[in-house]
Amino acid sequence: MRMVDIIEKKRDGHALSKAEIDYFIENYTEGNIPDYQASSLMMAIYFQSMSDEEATHLTEATLNSGDIIDLSAIEGIKVDKHSTGGVGDKTSLVLGPLVAANGAKVAKLSGRGLGHTGGTLDKLESIPGLNVSLSSEAFIEQVNDINIAIAGQTASLAPADKHLYALRDVSGTVPSIPLIAASIMSKKLASGSDVIVLDVKIGEGAFMKTLDDARELSRLMVKIGKNFNKKVTAFITDMSQPLGNAVGNKLEVIEAIQTLQGNGPEDLEELCKEIGSYLIKDAEQAESVDAARSLIENKVESLEARDVFKKLISAQGGEYPDLNDFIKVRDIVAVKSEDAGYVKRLNALDIGLSAMRLGAGRATKEDTIDMDVGIVLNKKVGDKVEEGDVLAYVYNNKDDITEELRTILNAFEISESYIEKPPLIIDIIE
Ligand code: URA
Repeated sequence: MRMVDIIEKKRDGHALSKAEIDYFIENYTEGNIPDYQASSLMMAIYFQSMSDEEATHLTEATLNSGDIIDLSAIEGIKVDKHSTGGVGDKTSLVLGPLVAANGAKVAKLSGRGLGHTGGTLDKLESIPGLNVSLSSEAFIEQVNDINIAIAGQTASLAPADKHLYALRDVSGTVPSIPLIAASIMSKKLASGSDVIVLDVKIGEGAFMKTLDDARELSRLMVKIGKNFNKKVTAFITDMSQPLGNAVGNKLEVIEAIQTLQGNGPEDLEELCKEIGSYLIKDAEQAESVDAARSLIENKVESLEARDVFKKLISAQGGEYPDLNDFIKVRDIVAVKSEDAGYVKRLNALDIGLSAMRLGAGRATKEDTIDMDVGIVLNKKVGDKVEEGDVLAYVYNNKDDITEELRTILNAFEISESYIEKPPLIIDIIE
């Protein structure tokens, strides 16, 4: 087989065979195919796309390029959730304990944040002492013990995706639906869970900018999952504004705990309860989504879900934070509205980038994070605002943030006329 023939076949719009896809992934991972040929193939796929069958073969080849986590030593149905990334997305911190408290097994491998989006591992590491580098024995033992463990993804999980993603990032080929689907699903399938919910975000702060693209990506990922005998559901959710109010590591941990105690922001609470209901139903802990929803409500009211989060922190060596004394910043600055009306737009991307520049995120993989800083939104889309009302609080450790405060103010668009609150869950694809 010759790589140039595979490139030309895809360039001319033909479907690649399983053998050709396997040949490419195996040889690219081993370093036998140069980046210029791999990037040429990525561009051909970007323009000519792939059939569902080709995307499934690409997922399988990528999945088989590294270790496949064996969770068979965990009794019961293992559940996982993946978000395509967003601003203020602390869903995993809430959802994990919510479903673990209801008997589902959460063996979760998470990633770090980059650019305007945050990562679950960074948020967890903002808790003093908490360790996310667990051996596979400790990881499995913890899930068998308390139903939940959250650890870092190892380099041996779908290594072909690591190389390919880095290549796509610098060759203009990230936004290809079959490539995104194979990339996400290879990692999810390698992580070994039986039930998967995918949270596909759309809007300014997300990868997918249109509903049609989000629907197509969701459909394809659900189909790939089904081909591997997994129960997969995709939620399409709004990321035109941040999720919840807090953006920043410790701030998001506090908001997650508040949500687990029943006093979090409405949008975050709704999303976690809805996704949680599907996970619990598919994990066969409830007969229907509605029955699962009442189980979840009960575990929030009784504080059992919050207590699972406490157990998770303690099992991974962390100290449960005193919420009133967790954050230490030089100052908290209020950003006030210069207009009256209703919030029409709250740009998630601008807020995410601002939080990153304040120190809450990384511009490059090597940057270090300031766990204490970030932004707490006081108004969201559809809220009424008077002139002088606080739109956001900025938790800051830097000398001069005049420009940042202006950027945050400009992320809010205020309209004189009434604006309805936008729906958060746009579609659910099973
Ligand atoms: N997230 C991934 O893991 N892969 C992609 O290709 C895009 C988003």
